[in-house]
Amino acid sequence: MLVQTADGSYTMYSEEFSQHYHSCNEGALNESLQKHIIPAFSYHKNKKTLHILDICFGLGYNTLTTLYYIKKHNLNINLYIYSVEFNTDLLHSLENFRYPNQFNDLKDIIKALSKDFYYQDDNLTIKIYNGDAREYLQNSDIKIDIVYQDPFSSDTNKNLWTVEYFALIKKLLNNNAIITTYSIATPIRLAMWENGLLIYEIQHQKKRSTIALNTQKINQNYKYIDMVLKQQRNKTAKAYKD
Ligand SMILES: C[S@@+](CC[C@H](N)C(=O)[O-])C[C@H]1O[C@@H](n2cnc3c(N)ncnc32)[C@H](O)[C@@H]1O
Repeated sequence: MLVQTADGSYTMYSEEFSQHYHSCNEGALNESLQKHIIPAFSYHKNKKTLHILDICFGLGYNTLTTLYYIKKHNLNINLYIYSVEFNTDLLHSLENFRYPNQFNDLKDIIKALSKDFYYQDDNLTIKIYNGDAREYLQNSDIKIDIVYQDPFSSDTNKNLWTVEYFALIKKLLNNNAIITTYSIATPIRLAMWENGLLIYEIQHQKKRSTIALNTQKINQNYKYIDMVLKQQRNKTAKAYKD
């Protein structure tokens, strides 16, 4: 079911997961920009090549907003985007989805992705794996700089939020990789932290979200979340496990 969100862009409601694909209050395009694209590209400033893992493709906002952002800011980057999505009918329907005007220049790319799950030109390669995310991660040997961690929430999509799931992600990360996610839940932050990732909170338009960095060194630019302290203060807090 098509739903218009606060910024005018459209999302959908999933009957299967009983959830919207995006936050209706924040707006689909705005949420993608604020929680994923801006934090990831602010962190990876001045990079000439970036490898992005977009979990999961859904309506494709995170991939398409990335392309919109790069064009808007005139960034000269070689981009490789790998995504996963098991809903084949959804992917095939995207050619006719009511995307925001900001994506008007991307029509050929949307058409190719919707039809072939693949697009390539001089500076850009996009591959969507049409199947299960964990199966894809298990069999992958790609090296990733940015992960957009954007599945449905853990009440219905828990196997994409556990310690074991993040272990699969962790083995694909480059040293300076960043994971962006809308979730601020402690069991999810713990699941990332137990895999050696450092957890930070970011704020935008009075909303909070999480980034996780694959590094040993605390980054002074972000609000560090001390997960040891969190666990001391909340003895029942536990990471999600399979
Ligand atoms: C919240 S939506 C993703 C929103 C997306 N980032 C966007 O911008 O539209 C979650 C998507 O994950 C897909 N999904 C859920 N579990 C999956 C799995 N195990 N493997 C692959 N795709 C999955 C659903 O079909 C849905 O399209």
